[in-house]
Amino acid sequence: MTPTGRTSRPAALVDLLITPAFPTPLVERLAAGFTFEQVQPDVDTARAELLARVGRARALCSTGADRIDAELLDAAPELLVVANFGVGYDGVDVVAAADRGVWVANTPDVLTESTADVALLLLLGTLRRAGEGFEHVRHGRWKASDPGAFWGVDPGGLTLGILGMGRIGQALAARVAPLGMRTIYHNRTRLAAEREAELAATWVPLDELLERADVVSLHVPLSAETRGLIGRPQLARMRRGVFIINTARGALVDEAALIEALGSGHVAGVGLDVFAREPRVPRALREHPGAFLLPHLGSATRRTREAMMRLCLENAVAVLRGGRPSTPVNEPRPDRARARARR
Ligand code: DGY
Repeated sequence: MTPTGRTSRPAALVDLLITPAFPTPLVERLAAGFTFEQVQPDVDTARAELLARVGRARALCSTGADRIDAELLDAAPELLVVANFGVGYDGVDVVAAADRGVWVANTPDVLTESTADVALLLLLGTLRRAGEGFEHVRHGRWKASDPGAFWGVDPGGLTLGILGMGRIGQALAARVAPLGMRTIYHNRTRLAAEREAELAATWVPLDELLERADVVSLHVPLSAETRGLIGRPQLARMRRGVFIINTARGALVDEAALIEALGSGHVAGVGLDVFAREPRVPRALREHPGAFLLPHLGSATRRTREAMMRLCLENAVAVLRGGRPSTPVNEPRPDRARARARR
């Protein structure tokens, strides 16, 4: 962790504290004229490290792994903005931030297509047992052709249940239509009829989606209401042999219940890019042949990650310059607005 002061500003304050590993030249370019420090603490010391440093920061670029709660915000009297690196901002208490006059922004849109690609990858990989096949080859177990081996399931004719029909859910629906899958979805608000027609997607109540889908794919944000959305009762409602795909947040699902359902065969396979306590992945999942697992790489393409970094930095810098972020997710209370003048 090397503090990287770029101007002759007083050592006590830093304009930008950055927890995701952004390339220094990019920060130097997009935050020219501002001081910054990059903090890349390991997962076990992250909280203490952030608490120790945030008191000096005017802007914070954080990731989903950082918990930006009231305690942390209270330790940051100079903070004007939390620019979250990612579309999901469940790690940030946006109300506590607004109450303290702090903006919160995220990085929507730029990662929609790459995340939907990974949802499709997990869907096909899980149906077609790609993880098992890969392991078979990698570990030198492929000794003879066996026409009876690795039988998977064709996507054509299956019903995909998309839970959460925002940008990524819609991008997945567009990808599966050419595969001959039927799409049903559940979302608090229905899409316009023309958009439903375009995506060949039908809105259904949640219970109906759980009962009808051959594959359930999760695309809802994590919040107090959606934590544990898929628990034992919801799994029990699903068809025996259902497949579950998750590129959203691990804590949407009761992981213990999921492992149980996978073990009993009620759930035939899972394709997961996200886990309840990342980077910890339960052994039962790691060792289950029906689990096709990725290390939260949904948005990890060069183009997408660079666009996310840019947007995250631009949001922080906009506020440091006295403006507003381009993609805010809260509105700071005007009566609590913090002084923006550099001290
Ligand atoms: C997001 O955008 O929320 C992703 O999880 C970060 O890669």
